[in-house]
Amino acid sequence: MSEAVYTLPAMPAARQPGCPFDPPKELVEARDHGPISRFTFPDGHEGWLVTGYDLVRAVLADPRFSSRKELMRHHPLIDFGDVEVPPAPPGEFLLMDDPQHSRYRKPLAGKFTVRRMRLLTERIEQVTAEHLDAMEKAGSPTDLVTAFAKPIPAVMICELLGVPYADRGSFQGNVEKFLDGETPDDELIAAYTAVQTYLAELVAAKRANPTDDVLSDLLDGDLTDEELRGVALILLVAGLDTTANMLALGTFALLRNPAQLAALRADPALTEPAVEELLRYLTVGKTFMRTALEDVELGGHTIPAGSMMICSYHTANRDPERFSDPHVLDLRRQDGGHLAFGHGIHQCLGQQLARIEMRVAFAALVRRFPTLRLAVPAEEVALRPETADIFGVKSLPVAWD
Ligand code: HEM
Repeated sequence: MSEAVYTLPAMPAARQPGCPFDPPKELVEARDHGPISRFTFPDGHEGWLVTGYDLVRAVLADPRFSSRKELMRHHPLIDFGDVEVPPAPPGEFLLMDDPQHSRYRKPLAGKFTVRRMRLLTERIEQVTAEHLDAMEKAGSPTDLVTAFAKPIPAVMICELLGVPYADRGSFQGNVEKFLDGETPDDELIAAYTAVQTYLAELVAAKRANPTDDVLSDLLDGDLTDEELRGVALILLVAGLDTTANMLALGTFALLRNPAQLAALRADPALTEPAVEELLRYLTVGKTFMRTALEDVELGGHTIPAGSMMICSYHTANRDPERFSDPHVLDLRRQDGGHLAFGHGIHQCLGQQLARIEMRVAFAALVRRFPTLRLAVPAEEVALRPETADIFGVKSLPVAWD
């Protein structure tokens, strides 16, 4: 017998005005009712919303909950009717289960280890310094997103993959369209096609002339060109937009919490815990979906096979049963273990890269600009809509003396 359960009437499309860093209040309220709620998708499908830390972690660790794209037939905000969803294209392993998923993840795992990523520290410091120099030279005020947050992860993922940075005009804008939650469908298809065309040419160029990078390394395995294109796409999409949004939204959060910002500036040893706390507090990858492959007992409920689960990583990271004062940004927080990089087989492959980028970039930014401040009132900072897969600011006007 399932226990009585709260039903979320609809997925919220926006955050509360004045609360750019907090999950929408409807999701926090759902979590207050309990770690799992019912949710009826706009097309009538009966699904579930998982908001509590332990249950989100349990879903992500359980192979009975699938990431397969073709099973995700219901959209949390839109009624598409009874459409067939095609499986993920070859190589796009984020939306596959094992064993298909591990066919792609395995050869990549050794290339993104802590040790490998630490070797990049000096290069990240150099790239960061170059962008801060340029920002200083151009003068106050500026948009931190274009001057700092976007280019640093972009240079790094391009260098790792062996994508010429000068080519980024062919894909960066298009990749952002995948995740910004505002691009109309026809433009989305055009953007996807353009990126695919670019990557097909890139893979062909690597085959003809391999260089010293992750994509060229993969040529030695048994992946087809089509698969390599898919892998490159996942890495580019994940590497470009996520860290960029963490850097910009993280700076915004620090500027809105001046005591925390001052503590970070005064104590470089705080950089590592600060990055973990910003990841927890902001959780820019807010929600991901899974589908039950069979009937599963979860949190006192029977989840019927075929049910879609919306897993809210953001409310899990704000769960009062897991984190003390969860809605407070506290860079000295001791209770680690956030889910901002997910958990289980899909846990973020690029997390060590993202961590080092953020440690270097935040530390250098606060040191270089001791008087950094918002150049517009906080409520005028343009946010991505809640419908975006990755949350963030569209631009962040900042000034300094
Ligand atoms: C997966 C977050 C940076 C590559 C994920 C997942 C999350 C996440 C939550 C799991 C999704 C799920 O559960 O279905 C983040 C955040 C980042 C970041 C918050 C920045 C702060 C990066 C970077 C790369 C990357 C820089 C580039 C190498 C990936 C890949 C996956 C992934 C390839 C899929 C892993 C799999 O399916 O096995 N990321 N990510 N991420 N991320 Fe990241």
